[in-house]
Amino acid sequence: MKNDLLLRALKGLPVERPPVWIMRQAGRYLPDYIKLKNKYDFFTRCRTPELVSEITLLPIDQIGTDAAIIFSDILVVLQAMNIEVEMKPNFGPFIPNPIDSKEKVKNLITPNVRDKLGYVFEAIKITKRDLNDRVPLIGFAGSPWTLFCYLVQGSGSKTFDKSKGFAFANPKETEIILEKITLTTIEYLKGQIDAGADVVQIFDSWGGLLSPSDYSEFSLKYINRIVSAIKNYAPVIIFGKGCWFALNEMVKTGASGLGIDWSCSARNARYLSGGNITLQGNYDPAKLLSPISKIKSDVNQMINDFGKQSYIVNLGHGILPNIPVSHAKAFVDAVKEYKSL
Ligand code: CP3
Repeated sequence: MKNDLLLRALKGLPVERPPVWIMRQAGRYLPDYIKLKNKYDFFTRCRTPELVSEITLLPIDQIGTDAAIIFSDILVVLQAMNIEVEMKPNFGPFIPNPIDSKEKVKNLITPNVRDKLGYVFEAIKITKRDLNDRVPLIGFAGSPWTLFCYLVQGSGSKTFDKSKGFAFANPKETEIILEKITLTTIEYLKGQIDAGADVVQIFDSWGGLLSPSDYSEFSLKYINRIVSAIKNYAPVIIFGKGCWFALNEMVKTGASGLGIDWSCSARNARYLSGGNITLQGNYDPAKLLSPISKIKSDVNQMINDFGKQSYIVNLGHGILPNIPVSHAKAFVDAVKEYKSL
């Protein structure tokens, strides 16, 4: 691997500077992505290995991040489990027949992952070939709880009130659903690693909607099983949006890195996670709209706050569609130009 900063940072090995990548870097704000978006619908883009590779490499070539993340979506796992998922332009994910009653739980199958998601493994192989070991490739999956949120709600939501209501009213059925997603996700991540993913990240985008004890029961329990099953094959990063309260428990899973959002300071994150594990984050994505000089001084400060070692520079959540490419590049450049105090 020509640039192994990410792999070293995840092992806690010394680095000259921290690695940097950007959550959701492979789409949205990049004009060349928008061109492809206007030509092919979302899941066609996900299912065509050559397109996946092209989109995955865009941020490597155009803004120079130290890692690639495979272009796909967390919801392809629900599709593999027999759930129809549409990506509606200007709306987002839409599930015409969500699991909103006990009777529908049986609609969810535990699939043969190679049959249903082999196209992702194929895309990873092609992307690895095209990357030619320039930077590591990150694979990913949604956490079982986050997938459950979409599965029950039927679309995106700020509160996922239907999903939470279902979980609290039907804990047994919820457990059955989360179990099935967990088993599928373990096979899915193993397949991604077999195909060449160097690191995997688990996105728990909606874990922060739960109280600490509900988080343990409905989310962390399953993340823990996933990490246990795969950590010997590749380093795992857990990103739990709004889940600062669980950092200490997340360390115990054996993950190599923990994602932090901007609601938690570097100091608090180091304190809550015990000071040894690699942390990733946590610039507010909206702050990429600041003037470039401000972005650069913020990044310098952020590295000083987290420390240069055992740290991966990133945003605290996905990049927004309205960020100018020059600002995303300034964020990356600031890390490469980092001078310690
Ligand atoms: O980092 C990358 O760019 C890799 C690709 C990636 C996508 N989705 C592509 C995508 C990744 C890592 C994801 C993860 C994902 N998808 C998450 C977890 C991270 C997070 O942001 O919380 C979630 C919750 C989803 C579900 C999802 N997919 C939503 C809510 C939406 C609609 C809103 C949006 O982001 O535009 C999507 C669609 C989606 N996934 C797009 C892309 C590039 C935009 C649709 C398009 O380009 O046609």
